[in-house]
Amino acid sequence: MGSKDLFQIGSSMFPMGVNSPVRYFKDYPFYVHHVKGSKIYDVDGNEYIDYCLAYGPSILGHADPDVVKAVKEQAENGLLYGAPAEIEIKLGDLIRRSSRNIEMMRFTNSGTEATMHAIRLARGYTGRSIVVKMEGGFHGAHDYSLIRSGSGTLTFGSPSSPGVPEEVAKTVIVGRYNDRESIRDIFDRYGDRIAALITEPIMGNAGVILPDPGFLEFLREITEKNGSLLIFDEVITGYRFAFSPYQDLIGIRPDLTTMGKIIGGGMPIGLFGGSRDLMSRVSPSGDVYQSGTFSGNPITMAAGYAALKKLQNMDYSRIRKTTEKLITGIDEILSRRKIRHVINSYVSMFQFFFAEEAHNYDQVMKADRDLYFRIFKSLMRHGVYLPPSQFETNFVSFAHSDEDIAKTLEAFDSAVGEVVG
Ligand SMILES: Cc1ncc(COP(=O)(O)O)c(C=O)c1O
Repeated sequence: MGSKDLFQIGSSMFPMGVNSPVRYFKDYPFYVHHVKGSKIYDVDGNEYIDYCLAYGPSILGHADPDVVKAVKEQAENGLLYGAPAEIEIKLGDLIRRSSRNIEMMRFTNSGTEATMHAIRLARGYTGRSIVVKMEGGFHGAHDYSLIRSGSGTLTFGSPSSPGVPEEVAKTVIVGRYNDRESIRDIFDRYGDRIAALITEPIMGNAGVILPDPGFLEFLREITEKNGSLLIFDEVITGYRFAFSPYQDLIGIRPDLTTMGKIIGGGMPIGLFGGSRDLMSRVSPSGDVYQSGTFSGNPITMAAGYAALKKLQNMDYSRIRKTTEKLITGIDEILSRRKIRHVINSYVSMFQFFFAEEAHNYDQVMKADRDLYFRIFKSLMRHGVYLPPSQFETNFVSFAHSDEDIAKTLEAFDSAVGEVVG
């Protein structure tokens, strides 16, 4: 059955045929047959060079053979124990040894769970209720995140979702990334009631927005001064640029860190962690409750361990060079056609905007998202798959070859030509 037919059937049982909103795009999404390396193959017989990469986890490329082998071997010993196993310690230890600020951690099944529980821990620890987040920042699909949020909430026009109780929304104050004044105002007004400030250190859910020099240091200072915790949501950025979270590259120490995506090697995962003092408050050693039937499940642990063991020996400068080659080419193509644009990138993630500037949320919101989408569609006809929305991130994996980049640029040139003439 082809994608069109599958979509028709899928739409009768799943809202818009999908099980996560960002997977839908007009007229209907392709249905996947399989993935391998840098490629995604649909049931209609098309092959695409993939820069969506399952929204980030597949940094080694899809279906990495060592990760798949580890999953198969673990499956022979069972899928789920509901009791601790050594493989959790193996993955935890690898993360602890490569993440300066994570003394203790707890595994969850998704980034959503990780940030939700980190926020509860921050509230329990400080005895305060207010949380500060950034406009356009996305931390998963729980109530505390879905307030002037990013990712699919921007794409589909509901950054503050109906269904989040007003009482909850009142405990979340929204600040502006790269705008110290807005953060200072919030702390001036609510300082002694703020449990935590949560932010992605590099914004990845309103496209890619990089921190202005000193901004993250400023967040560290102002939270510390007010007795609030700083939470870095590194669900996207953890192990993406080096074998560590991003915070270790810039030498900033948040109180709590959340991760996900890459550390699960393609299986569902999340993690929140920090100092022994803070994490000891988590149940059952402490009183802040958190749990999960599937948390730390052996298949995810085995996949994550295999992926991180491999990543530990990878040269991240290689992926940086691949990305640079790609964005230099995109920049050249758009400049040659005199199309106004900005490309924001860091090592293995990038996004291009049809805008004057793109270093804060307001500027990104002014970008021509319709042009992005038309180029996205045209690129698909030329065998390249980007994330379907301007408000997502393009990822480059270790599996993307020079040949992939050359083919992508050829496709990009043709696609832009078709769309803008
Ligand atoms: C920064 C960030 N935090 C949290 C999440 C939620 O993670 P998950 O989709 O695994 O629940 C995402 C998802 O894209 C994310 O980008």
